[in-house]
Amino acid sequence: MRLTLHVWRQKNADDKGGFSTYELEDVSTHMSFLEMLDVLNQDLIAKGEGPIAFDHDCREGVCGTCGFVINGVAHGHQKGSTICQLHMRHFSDGDEITIEPFRARAFPIVKDLVIDRSAFDRIIQAGGFISVNTGSAPEANTLPVPPHNAEQAMDAAACIGCGGCVAACPNASAMLFVSAKVSQFALLPQGKPEAARRALGMVRAMDACGFGNCSNHRECENACPKEIAIVNIARLNREYAKASFASPES
Ligand code: SF4
Ligand code: FES
Repeated sequence: MRLTLHVWRQKNADDKGGFSTYELEDVSTHMSFLEMLDVLNQDLIAKGEGPIAFDHDCREGVCGTCGFVINGVAHGHQKGSTICQLHMRHFSDGDEITIEPFRARAFPIVKDLVIDRSAFDRIIQAGGFISVNTGSAPEANTLPVPPHNAEQAMDAAACIGCGGCVAACPNASAMLFVSAKVSQFALLPQGKPEAARRALGMVRAMDACGFGNCSNHRECENACPKEIAIVNIARLNREYAKASFASPES
């Protein structure tokens, strides 16, 4: 099929940037979206032009590295899918496709479609872990976990840290990401001892990074490739409120 791409090109963080238009012929419907960009980049390199910079790693929907906005939708219009799992059969001959990076103050653009998501690392460093003694794994039945809690914790742990929720939110809020990371521990006994420190630390780090707050638009939930539910944000708010009352210095 034939496609017209309008792609955001930006040399570096200081460059103003702008859209460049590319015409593609003979795009196979079997290609993934990233393979289609690979082919375009081969053409650009053959013509002596710079290839389009975009992030990717696993190309299997598990690492969270890929991610940009396609026709105004973070990760594209296919629900519950990362860009690396989006295939060209979901587009039509003659389509015009606009591609631009995730836009948020806390995610500065590095080049073209590549953004700096290290703000997420800073939030995780502020409490997105449990402290355990090293050694062999304890016997599984020593810590009983109700099945409902285990399932909800697994659902929350599916977050791959892609940042699509931030890009979709009109406030560029990271609440869905933070709530998933807090929930995966808050629901399990292993997460309880550090729960208060985790909730306070991660929310404060989120604010310090410049993310906005949640105003219940639910765009994050809609854009999330792992379909993380906003019920996790309600849990984050409860965890934060509990921790605030329990910590006199907060
Ligand atoms: S909550 Fe969803 S959209 Fe946000 S970082 Fe996690 S996987 Fe990506
Ligand atoms: S490249 Fe790993 S999730 Fe897309």
